[in-house]
Amino acid sequence: MSQSAIAGRVAIVTGGIGGLGTEICRHLVQQHRHVIAIDLASREERITTFQNDVAGFKGTITFEATDVSDFDQCKALTARIEQQYGRIDILVNAAGITRDATLRKMTPQQWHELIQVNLDSVFNMCRNVVEGMTARGFGRIVNISSVNGQTGQFGQTNYSAAKAGVHGFSMALARETARKGVTVNTVSPGYCDTAMVAALSNEIREGIIADIPVGRLGSPADIARAVGFLTADDAGYITGINLPVNGGYFMSF
Ligand code: CAA
Repeated sequence: MSQSAIAGRVAIVTGGIGGLGTEICRHLVQQHRHVIAIDLASREERITTFQNDVAGFKGTITFEATDVSDFDQCKALTARIEQQYGRIDILVNAAGITRDATLRKMTPQQWHELIQVNLDSVFNMCRNVVEGMTARGFGRIVNISSVNGQTGQFGQTNYSAAKAGVHGFSMALARETARKGVTVNTVSPGYCDTAMVAALSNEIREGIIADIPVGRLGSPADIARAVGFLTADDAGYITGINLPVNGGYFMSF
C-alpha cells in the first residue's frame, strides 16, 4: 500500500490486546486512526478474543506480533509498518507486566524481566519511530506509566522504578523533539478494572478501592480518553506532561 493510499493518521499501540490496550485501540479507531495493535504472538487466546472484539470496531485495525522487549524486533516492525503505510504518526506504549515481590524476596529475573518489558520497550519503540516523526514534522507519543511510579507501591520496587523511569524518559525525549512537531507525554493510570488488578487478592483490592475518592476502579475507557486527548492533531502545545487518571487517588495522601 503506498503512502498516498492512506488518509488519516497511523497509530501503533503496544500491549494492544491487553486490558487497557484494546480500549485504547478502540478509541483511536473511533478517531479515524489506522491502528496497529502490537503484542506477543504467544498470547493466542487473547489474540482470538481481540480479533473477535475488533470485528465490531468501525475502522481499520490490524494485529502484529512483536516482542517489544527486543530491539531488533521493534526495528523490523516499525520498518515494515513505515513501508506498508508510509509513516507512523502516533505511538502509544502500553505494554506492561507486573512481577510483584518485596525486595527482600525479589529475584534478579523478576527485576530484569519487568525492566525489559516496561522500560526497555519504551526505548526500543521510541528509538525506532522518532527519526521518521521528526523528519515529517509530526508525531504524538504517549507512554503509559502508573500511579505507582509516582507514589511507590509495596511489593513493586521493580514496577515503580520502571514506571517512574518512563516519565523521566518522556520528559527528556519531549525536550529533544519539542521544536519538531513531536509531542511526548505520559499517562499515569490509577488502579483499573483489568486482569492485572483482578489478580490481586480481594483484601488488597478492596483496600485500594477504599482509598480512591471516586469510589471505584478506573475503566480502560477512562485511560483511552486521556490518550485520545494527547494524540489529537491539535494537542501540539502539550508536551512533557504526566497526566494522572486515578479517580482522585492523590487526594488520599
Ligand atoms: N504496607 C505495609 N506492609 C505490608 C503491606 C503494605 N501494603 N502489605 C503487606 N505488608 C506486610 C505484611 O503485613 C507482612 O508483615 P510481617 O512480616 O510483619 O508479618 C509483610 O509485609 C509481608 O512481607 P512479604 O515479603 O512476606 O510479602 P508477601 O510475599 O506476603 O507479599 C506481595 C508481597 C506479593 C507484593 C503482596 O504484598 C502484594 O500482592 N501486594 C500488592 C502489590 C500491588 O499493589 N500490586 C499492584 C498490581 S496492579 C498494578 O501494578 C497496576 C497499576 O499500575 C496500578
